[in-house]
Amino acid sequence: MGWSDILSAINFNHCDHDVSSNATKLFSALPEAAESVNLGFLEFFAGSGLVGTALAPRFNLLWANDICPKKADVFRANHGSGTFHLASIASINGRELPTAFLSWASFPCQDLSLAGKSAGIHASRSGLVWEWLRVMNEMPARPPVLVAENVVGLVAWNSGSQYRQLHGAMAERGYRVGAFVLDAIRWLPQSRPRIFVVAVHKTAPLPSELLDRGPNWLHSKAVTKAAQGLDDWLWWKMPEPGPRGLSLSDIVDWNAPCLDEATAKKTLALVPEEHMRRLQKSGLKAVPGYKRTRNGRQVLELRFDGVAGCLRTPQGGSSRQFLAIRRGGGWQVRLLTVKETARLMGAPETYRLPGKYNDGYKAMGDAVAVPAVAYLAEHILWKLATAI
Ligand SMILES: C[S@@+](CC[C@H](N)C(=O)[O-])C[C@H]1O[C@@H](n2cnc3c(N)ncnc32)[C@H](O)[C@@H]1O
Repeated sequence: MGWSDILSAINFNHCDHDVSSNATKLFSALPEAAESVNLGFLEFFAGSGLVGTALAPRFNLLWANDICPKKADVFRANHGSGTFHLASIASINGRELPTAFLSWASFPCQDLSLAGKSAGIHASRSGLVWEWLRVMNEMPARPPVLVAENVVGLVAWNSGSQYRQLHGAMAERGYRVGAFVLDAIRWLPQSRPRIFVVAVHKTAPLPSELLDRGPNWLHSKAVTKAAQGLDDWLWWKMPEPGPRGLSLSDIVDWNAPCLDEATAKKTLALVPEEHMRRLQKSGLKAVPGYKRTRNGRQVLELRFDGVAGCLRTPQGGSSRQFLAIRRGGGWQVRLLTVKETARLMGAPETYRLPGKYNDGYKAMGDAVAVPAVAYLAEHILWKLATAI
């Protein structure tokens, strides 16, 4: 019996969504879309919809939600409105959701971020993961595969104590679970390590080729530590990706206007002396950097390894990323454009980002990098889906 048989054998009242037209729009936006199969996914905390974009070539988007109206605009501009629900997860009733193969939750990270004042996995924002599991409980037929995605703080914080609670809750629900790190830097010129927690129900087939006997390139020290002694733990295995094809120069919009001379001068004056020396000597054409406060003083710290720092939610000037651009004999400076943030996330060139500068930047700063999700989809999720 295949997945579609298993799922169709489950008696369930479907929601009245027009799935096919949205799926078609999505597939036609992606040039390398594989032939669609009838394996549906639910996208919780969907934000601007990049997870859906990455999964769409192999899976059908059945239903998505997010609470943010501006992100909803981005989602709808790219995926249509038929599947999207602008609503808090707290108001979602699992009994009303369509039966699906996969449920994906990129739940809020603010309470797990190592940079922030971490309040933990039971705090008001990251604690919404429990609402997701509540919705899963309510579904008459639980999806056989669950994926939760978050920042590395989920496993790194307090020797994995936060992750272990999530793991235990999934295991109690009958899933075998493993977590690993995928960093977008493998595919894109952006450092963006993220934790992916992939759970498979015990009744579902689990091909042995997907499993390792212990840690591999996917498992950081923090993951390995968090996994110690856990029941129902899986060491997921995927081939290691080849060298990255894209460089920072590939994502730069060389025609974008830079800051006026006076503002550029003031901004470049914030670059520490040592960084300024390296900038002058470097053969680089574009160098990214963030403003930070060091010893009570604001500085613009640059990085010279040819990749951008992790895009963040823009909350004030310091959280938006700058680019120093070589022009003639000197350097000009500007913020990343929204187009560049989309490229740094691996969004298709056709991806629409309606709204103001900060809306587009925020949509991308909160999103999940497309190639990381696509890699997981190709090497694990699709193999699970076709295992029978
Ligand atoms: C890490 S982001 C997910 C981004 C998304 N996966 C993407 O690729 O754009 C977390 C999302 O949770 C949403 N969110 C926060 N509270 C929520 C709630 N109560 N119900 C539904 N969504 C919520 C935020 O608006 C945000 O888009």
